[in-house]
Amino acid sequence: MADKPHVLGIDLGTGGIRVLLVDQYTGDIIGSASSDHSTSTPNHGWSEQDPEDWWRGCCSAIRTLLDQQDLDGGSIAAVGLSGQMHGLILLDERDAVIRPAILWNDQRTTHECDLMHEWIGRDRLIELTGKPAMTSFTAPKILWMMNHDAEALARTHSILLPKDHLRLRLTGERAMDVSDASGTSLLDLGTRQWSSEILERLHIEANWLPPILESQDIAGTVTHDAAAATGLQPGTPVVAGAGDQAAGGVGCGIGGGSAVSVNLGTSGVVFADSRQRPHDPTGALHGYCHAICGEWHVMGVMLSAGGSLKWYRDTFEGDDPAGFDRIIDGARTIRPGCDGLDFLPYLTGERTPHADPMARGAFVGMTNQHQRAHFGRAVLEGILFGLKDSLDLIRQSGQDVRSVRMTGGGARSSFWRQMAADIFNLPVSTVNVTDGSAYGAALLAMVGSGRFQDVPEAMNAFVQETSTLPPSHDAQLYGDLHERWKELYPALAPAFHDR
Ligand code: XUL
Repeated sequence: MADKPHVLGIDLGTGGIRVLLVDQYTGDIIGSASSDHSTSTPNHGWSEQDPEDWWRGCCSAIRTLLDQQDLDGGSIAAVGLSGQMHGLILLDERDAVIRPAILWNDQRTTHECDLMHEWIGRDRLIELTGKPAMTSFTAPKILWMMNHDAEALARTHSILLPKDHLRLRLTGERAMDVSDASGTSLLDLGTRQWSSEILERLHIEANWLPPILESQDIAGTVTHDAAAATGLQPGTPVVAGAGDQAAGGVGCGIGGGSAVSVNLGTSGVVFADSRQRPHDPTGALHGYCHAICGEWHVMGVMLSAGGSLKWYRDTFEGDDPAGFDRIIDGARTIRPGCDGLDFLPYLTGERTPHADPMARGAFVGMTNQHQRAHFGRAVLEGILFGLKDSLDLIRQSGQDVRSVRMTGGGARSSFWRQMAADIFNLPVSTVNVTDGSAYGAALLAMVGSGRFQDVPEAMNAFVQETSTLPPSHDAQLYGDLHERWKELYPALAPAFHDR
């Protein structure tokens, strides 16, 4: 398999599918193709997608990519999968989808999260799964089905996560990798297997769940039907893959060291690997199995990071791409701390460190001296202050954090990266990889194809830092400003909960 020149890395995102064609000998991205899919909101706070749309998009993106490059499927040594985590897919005995998938950003399960804490004990759940129950996760969605659609559950034969549905269609195999399975709230992080204790207490049938594999393991091979639909060759191996965050960690080279990544997309994710099973008894920092055998990772998630900046741009700068540049140009003219103006980025509630779906955004400290540019800079600073909260939690957990690798759309601005270096008081680097999750999936495929022995070897071969900004003299001032900023959420939380 290693003599075939290419691998595919597929990332099933919330907005669409992205497929990368990567040369497994040079690590170069040869080409990419994508396909968008839509989300439906049948009720306030609900978020659903049709898994059939994912499969159609996947087939069309793979075909487009192979056509574009004038390649046939025979040149592909292996396929790696990554995808949006936590979503619930229910399949009947013929593997037909029973209802639309309930996604990670669906908020309907607050009551079921409370039930999980009552039935298992919050502390015990954190001990076993590395985190408390949250609306994003899969297990509360299964309980919601028990409470609201028992008929659909009665027809259920198996349960999968989003990218694993693509695997089923590609290979006919049901499987889940350790990193994505950690986001269900049903996996014992210590054994890296389903927790029979949790399954029993929640009355979830063990035979609904697929076998668990390490991310680099080959989970199956492309079937004749899937080959006809995609242009891949029958028999092409498909590795287990990883949830988008762990795959993004691999794509950004986070493993076995002290680098931490901050991914500034719609959400903001602070990600660190750990050689020990992570355990934060407060449940603020979330533990997962990493896509590297024998490693775990911790994660702090800000729900609206780039999302807050986009909201600000769309609302106050007009919905045009140049709006971001205007915000940055304006921010350059304002001093750190925005002359007393602060912004809280909790526009869609928050996950870390304040696990609070009712948290809200705020501008605080306005005077008649503040101008538009102050507001833009306050948004840029507020997002980074919130991410610093997660970095501080990672440091407090005993991790030796010496630098940050910044990825996602937010990493494009060197001005914002310098601000990040100052607020985090750490050197901030970029890496040579942009589509981190899809590229991480491609690296996992290279291990599956035999090109590399293990995931760290693949990361070391192809992921490099491209530029580094050290903290400037503003870092000390930002340390004080972060202390001021941290007082705002506790002060405002009662008001958020009242509305
Ligand atoms: C991770 C998370 C999101 C989704 C969608 O915990 O909720 O990153 O995976 O990308």
